[in-house]
Amino acid sequence: MKTSLMFTWILNLAVVLALPMQKRSSLKRNLRNTPTLVQCMDMQSFAGEYKFVADGSGSVCGLYLISLPEKLIELEFLDFNVDCEAGGLAALVDGWEMNGQFFPPPADHHLTLNQRYMTFCGQSKPRRVLVSSQNVLLIQNRIPVQGQGFTVKVKFIDNPQPCNAVSMFTQGVHTIKNYGQRRNCSVSIIYPEMVHLVSVDVGVTAKMNEVDSDLGLSDQCRDSRGNTDYVEVIGGNGFETDSSNRRELACGLTTGAERRGTPVACTNTVIRMVSSGEYFNTVTFVYTQPTEEDLMRDNGTC
Ligand SMILES: *[C@@H]1O[C@H](CO)[C@@H](O)[C@H](O)[C@H]1NC(C)=O
Repeated sequence: MKTSLMFTWILNLAVVLALPMQKRSSLKRNLRNTPTLVQCMDMQSFAGEYKFVADGSGSVCGLYLISLPEKLIELEFLDFNVDCEAGGLAALVDGWEMNGQFFPPPADHHLTLNQRYMTFCGQSKPRRVLVSSQNVLLIQNRIPVQGQGFTVKVKFIDNPQPCNAVSMFTQGVHTIKNYGQRRNCSVSIIYPEMVHLVSVDVGVTAKMNEVDSDLGLSDQCRDSRGNTDYVEVIGGNGFETDSSNRRELACGLTTGAERRGTPVACTNTVIRMVSSGEYFNTVTFVYTQPTEEDLMRDNGTC
């Protein structure tokens, strides 16, 4: 059941991405007027109005929302009709949840899981307008009464300092920055990938002094004062990856793509940057669909 959910949303994702551009934008236009009815398990990557109406089966449902990595999701509840007495419940998740695992992983989020997982029913409606902390947001629900449900208006707004993100593409280029802050940022790509670090400046550029030489990459990432800043490539089968499934760990300063790259033969590929707050860190990586040969080269665990 749970694996099939995973399939469902990857399928939905594939369907969305397979639509020709023209059709996507006409879909977007239609959304302005009437809300789009969503299925029990649904994923949407466009701004618009979405309406969920329970079919009376009492199934656990989820509306997975995703925008581009540098955006946040603004949610406005236009309508909310979920009866507590009948056992109805809706949960708003600041991030995505799948098989009990959260994105962003709880350790890498500035809010606690309790703050990120808010439940509502009856008179206790969600606040009218909510904004996610990253480019993904989830509305989970179990509504046993047929015809009950909710309508939301979804908008995408700029994230001035993007950190955690889920990528909805199988290939692309992405830059992670810490803006001099102490924080950890993960980019999750829900496919097996080939990852090339293109430009790395991690644990080098301190707030005060300037460094301009190409130091190259290292996997010894603790500085003399005990700060640890690094970027890592991890594989996993869920959102919460473990460092024992790490393929690569790097810090230093370099530009120019790694020749070999790092293949990840797992359902989830994560590029995570750990920042102590003592440095301005930036990592740019390219991710592409791996070949059979690439996948064979990956001897890491998931
Ligand atoms: C970032 O991750 C490292 C290693 O996983 C951890 O020790 C550190 O406390 C984290 N920092 C923050 C701000 O969460």
